[in-house]
Amino acid sequence: MNKRPVVGVVFGTRPEAIKMAPVIFELQRRSRELQSVLISTSQHRQMLDQVLAVFGIQPDQDLNLMTHNQGLNEITRRVLEATEATLASTELDCLLIQGDTTTAFAAALAAFYRKIPVAHVEAGLRSRDIHNPYPEEVNRRLAGVVTELHFAPTSLARENLLAEGVSPEKIVVTGNTVVDAVKLLAEMRALDCPLPEGIPEDGRRIILITSHRRESWGVELENICNAIIDLVQFFPDIRVIYPVHMNPNVRNTVMARLGKIDRIHLTAPLDYFGFLSLLRRCYLVLTDSGGVQEEAPTFSKPVLVLRKVTERPEAALAGRARIIGTSREAIVAEAADLLNNSIAYRVMSEGENPYGDGHAARRILEALVRWFQGRNPILEAGQEFQGTVSTSEEVAISG
Ligand code: UD1
Ligand code: UDP
Repeated sequence: MNKRPVVGVVFGTRPEAIKMAPVIFELQRRSRELQSVLISTSQHRQMLDQVLAVFGIQPDQDLNLMTHNQGLNEITRRVLEATEATLASTELDCLLIQGDTTTAFAAALAAFYRKIPVAHVEAGLRSRDIHNPYPEEVNRRLAGVVTELHFAPTSLARENLLAEGVSPEKIVVTGNTVVDAVKLLAEMRALDCPLPEGIPEDGRRIILITSHRRESWGVELENICNAIIDLVQFFPDIRVIYPVHMNPNVRNTVMARLGKIDRIHLTAPLDYFGFLSLLRRCYLVLTDSGGVQEEAPTFSKPVLVLRKVTERPEAALAGRARIIGTSREAIVAEAADLLNNSIAYRVMSEGENPYGDGHAARRILEALVRWFQGRNPILEAGQEFQGTVSTSEEVAISG
């Protein structure tokens, strides 16, 4: 390499910032070899700023794109236009994108139009259903089409890419960077924040819930809320804590249904220390979040996934999660089983995290440097993330 290649890193939402943080730190650690430019679309505002503050990350460019209740066409168009302007004024040798958001997809497209190579962190996850998760399944696939270097978190993600015809020398299996992020936080400070304000510490078991998926807005989110009401009625020894996403389509439903019910605690989004502290001390997790599904096994917590299909089947295949859909009856039955049946609970709590081992960012940077040097980016035998799940068995249930 004659000069240090310049790597753009783009992110815009809470999960992208969390999962990019370890990559950004590793880029900074290898600053003798690579330069970095951090670009925030700020598709999210408060929820993104919470993450950046926790990690102490300051974007070089803030495109400040969030508007109230932004629609999909609007945010896609605005990310495409604003990223294009930024890429035109910044000489990048590569753009790193993360995951499946509109920021990731539209920034990848803008980079492709300028012939800037795209490297995709968390590539290859597939549900094979373009409507679930919506629009993320399509965002991730479209980003993959213009990607030069795919950082697949697991071997299943790699198999998905191979099945679509991606050449093996363009795929590196790294583990998911979210596991690195959890490790980084735990090294910064003990994950022992008190319960969010106003929630009594009375020894009751805590059920942690998050739900925000676009495909569940309306009736399905109402089903989820009704199931939560049933659960606190059936189980006097539980409290439910639900940090509510700021999207108004989620907030309005959840506040209206669950706002004033004993032992159901709705909170604003928690900062990452607060959220992981809660994950560490809760009894059970109910979620439709991708990141939360991947974090829970690190804390030995069983997960009930509030989705019909998942692009992250590893935890279910390893017996650590169940994909239960969004019907009121199914949610109540599955949660009741784990509240009543200590053997089923214990079986779901044990084992390694199938999504990563905390070294994903190091692998990503190693592969990226090799690639810039014109070498094969694939790491030596045994250096890639091995994981515990290696079949491509499909995990899907009908609603
Ligand atoms: C977005 C991503 C989704 C990701 C999720 C993570 C898309 C299409 N969706 O979801 O893939 O799983 O983020 O959380 O890329 N808002 C605020 N403050 C914030 C964030 C959001 O007020 O900090 C409100 C605004 O009114 C905003 C709205 O929520 O317009 C929707 O934000 P958006 O980025 O579209 O979020 P989601 O689609 O819910
Ligand atoms: N998270 C957080 N505070 C909260 C809820 C979630 O910091 O109040 C973190 C969580 O630990 C995970 C990420 O946000 O890393 C998940 O983000 P989200 O559910 O918004 O998006 P998804 O993972 O579904 O894309």
